[in-house]
Amino acid sequence: MSDCKNHELGIEAKTVIENASEKVAAFLGSTPHEIVFTSGGSESNNTVIKGVAHTYKNKGSHMITSNIEHPAIINPCKYLESIGYKISYVPVDQYGMVNPADVESVMTDRTVLVTIMHSNNETGTIQPIEEISKICRAHHVLLHTDASQSVGKVPIDVNEHRARS
Ligand SMILES: Cc1ncc(COP(=O)(O)O)c(C=O)c1O
Repeated sequence: MSDCKNHELGIEAKTVIENASEKVAAFLGSTPHEIVFTSGGSESNNTVIKGVAHTYKNKGSHMITSNIEHPAIINPCKYLESIGYKISYVPVDQYGMVNPADVESVMTDRTVLVTIMHSNNETGTIQPIEEISKICRAHHVLLHTDASQSVGKVPIDVNEHRARS
């Protein structure tokens, strides 16, 4: 195969990815350059949790999650605990809901990430992400939500979920 043909295939692949990014971004209310493709939920969650831990290791080693997360969140959290990170697991009420005040109460100046799922894969409970987002923004802490079970089932607009200060 000639170099020219290789280049053509590269352009073709780039065009396919760009078109897909535009479609996904329009669906989620984001911009195409904010879209990163992975193999699925587990890879996405691992990338965020371990990536934030590594990138912000000089800021702190504390993360907050809930005790009803999918194993794709719990397992990378357990890994971080095994290398010295502290993870706070906030409880849920009888409806499976996280209380945003509980998230705020365990936040410290060493907290680098809050990761609370959007909708639960077993109960379908949808968490108050906008309220949690406001708390995170006020404390300058990154927020991640595992929306693996939400996209395509409930409307998602990242700008609505993202609190504005
Ligand atoms: C809430 C939630 N997060 C993460 C995952 C993992 O996603 P994947 O199987 O694409 O790695 C699942 C899978 O069902 C899920 O329900």
